Amino acid sequence: MTSLDAHAMAGQPGHVALCAPIMSTLSSPSRSSLVLGIETSCDETGVAIVDAERRILAERLSSQLEMHAPFGGVVPEIAARAHLDILDILIKDAMKDAALDFQDLDAIAVTAGPGLIGGLIAGVITAKAIAAVHQRPLIAVNHLEAHALSARLTDPDLAFPYLLLLVSGGHCQLLMVKGVGDYQRLGTTLDDALGEAYDKAAKMLNLGYPGGPAIEASALAGRADAFEFPRPMAGKPNCHFSFSGLKTALRHAIQALGPKSLDPPYINDLCASFQAAAIDSLLDRTRRATKVVQSMKTPPKALVVAGGVAANTYLKTRLIDLATKAGLSLVVPPARLCTDNGTMIAWTGIERLALGLHDDLTVQARARWPLDPHAAPAIGAGVKA
Ligand code: KG4
Ligand code: ZN
Repeated sequence: MTSLDAHAMAGQPGHVALCAPIMSTLSSPSRSSLVLGIETSCDETGVAIVDAERRILAERLSSQLEMHAPFGGVVPEIAARAHLDILDILIKDAMKDAALDFQDLDAIAVTAGPGLIGGLIAGVITAKAIAAVHQRPLIAVNHLEAHALSARLTDPDLAFPYLLLLVSGGHCQLLMVKGVGDYQRLGTTLDDALGEAYDKAAKMLNLGYPGGPAIEASALAGRADAFEFPRPMAGKPNCHFSFSGLKTALRHAIQALGPKSLDPPYINDLCASFQAAAIDSLLDRTRRATKVVQSMKTPPKALVVAGGVAANTYLKTRLIDLATKAGLSLVVPPARLCTDNGTMIAWTGIERLALGLHDDLTVQARARWPLDPHAAPAIGAGVKA
């Protein structure tokens, strides 16, 4: 299916919109709002310039994967230093790519949380400096809101409200997205986020970091029924998730196999069985949420999936059937907009600016920042591991 076909099918129940990125068309400049977005909450330094016509005028991303890989996870001090080292360069490059001066911008949007505090501070200080020197409005963006709204950048027809499955390295949540700044959390993980579970599983199998893509690739060559792993929370009368029991079951299977567990055929079977169990559990919880939202005053018409794990093809394939049965259209942004990036921050800036929402220069970076302030606190909600 071409990206155009996907767009044409978007909005039809059960049809998946694997949206194509909308690239810059600088040849037709307009007076539409322009926002510079800055992302530094974890291990990607992202900078982008987006306008209100959904055009991406510049996009720069620097990954720290190689720096953290030897440690099997993100080291906060290394991350903060690396953001500081590269951020100014990326901003300069992005401004040059878009052929803009800071004066041309309508606002500077920056991730102010949740995330690793050192990296967040690096981004927020930089954004404040640009905003102060060039007298531009500053927009403090919630990273989770940026994931939540990224699908509206690539799918102009996506209207509020929609059901959101947010699956990343730090978060696993089901939310009703009722509008910009208006979220109702239906469920969250009680322990690990799904991406975190993939990363920890990959570490046990010596598959490196990040674990998600490595496990997905190995699973393609394995048998999903080779090991009987639990489906955590399946059938529970709520929309919460849990993945720590599955992780323990994997550890026990590896211990029982002994050195054989590192032979490729066993690794493939372990990955396929782990992934099938994790996604079965995720789908059971999502199905439950589709039932909960049906009785709402304004039920959603779409199921949106966002966050790094939304790049997983096996998950996307399985969600098509779920969405069809629930009468919802399925919207999944392109993989490069699912993992952390500056474009989704710039777009959230556009959405907030359109509503007259911006912040003053006293705004602070915050490690914790739940999207739904009324939801009962739970580990995994609004905090990155
Ligand atoms: O959204 P993201 O870039 O950063 C956070 O906000 O956490 O998500 C990163 C997470 C990592 O845990 C990574 O293993 C996972 O997304 N991930 C995947 C895949 N690609 C990235 N998980 C499963 N399958 C994938 N293909
Ligand atoms: Zn993220």
